[in-house]
Amino acid sequence: MDMSKVTIVDHPLIKHKLSIMRNKDTSCTKFRTLMNEISTLLAYEVTRDLELVEKEIETPMTTMVAPFLKESQIALISILRAGNGLLTGILNLLPSAKVGHIGLYREPETLVAIEYYFKMPNDISSRKALVVDPMLATGHSACAAIFALKKAKPKSITFVSLLASPEGIKEVQEQHPDVNIFTASIDEKIDAHGYIIPGLGDAGDRIYGTE
Ligand code: URA
Repeated sequence: MDMSKVTIVDHPLIKHKLSIMRNKDTSCTKFRTLMNEISTLLAYEVTRDLELVEKEIETPMTTMVAPFLKESQIALISILRAGNGLLTGILNLLPSAKVGHIGLYREPETLVAIEYYFKMPNDISSRKALVVDPMLATGHSACAAIFALKKAKPKSITFVSLLASPEGIKEVQEQHPDVNIFTASIDEKIDAHGYIIPGLGDAGDRIYGTE
């Protein structure tokens, strides 16, 4: 694993909230609230390199040249459906970001990711893409999404997850060595069904109450 391309965002607030999310008895409502909160905290770290432009403003005391975010920098790309769980919290910090969606399902036998939906902002080539999916497990969906996204030529691609497995990170790094990964935790492993251990179960089911 090349840790120079991986950032573990392990702030105590995130660790605490994540532990509650992992608990199987945590309700769907609580799970969703925590996911919103953690994604805002993740976004704070992921956006550290956003570009600023200076503009002159007047404070009540004097004029000054003040830094503002450069417009139109970011596109959030959600891998359906669980990726949508990370959108609200990130959009709280980046309300002007545009959002693309990639629909993939896992072929149950092989766990290979099959694309069924792809819709990007039309100015994606001038934006940095943050691909969001709470679970980087086998890496198959992540790699397929990144592969599809690269055809739309965003300026750069960063992958943002809540949990990652060592296997998933290795897969992304082998297929897409240019991609930075942000995650709140690297768990122990994936099981034979591609679920993260210890993990938090099926993220989509837990967000939407479809267990
Ligand atoms: N997707 C999930 O929702 N959970 C896992 O553990 C792995 C993939």
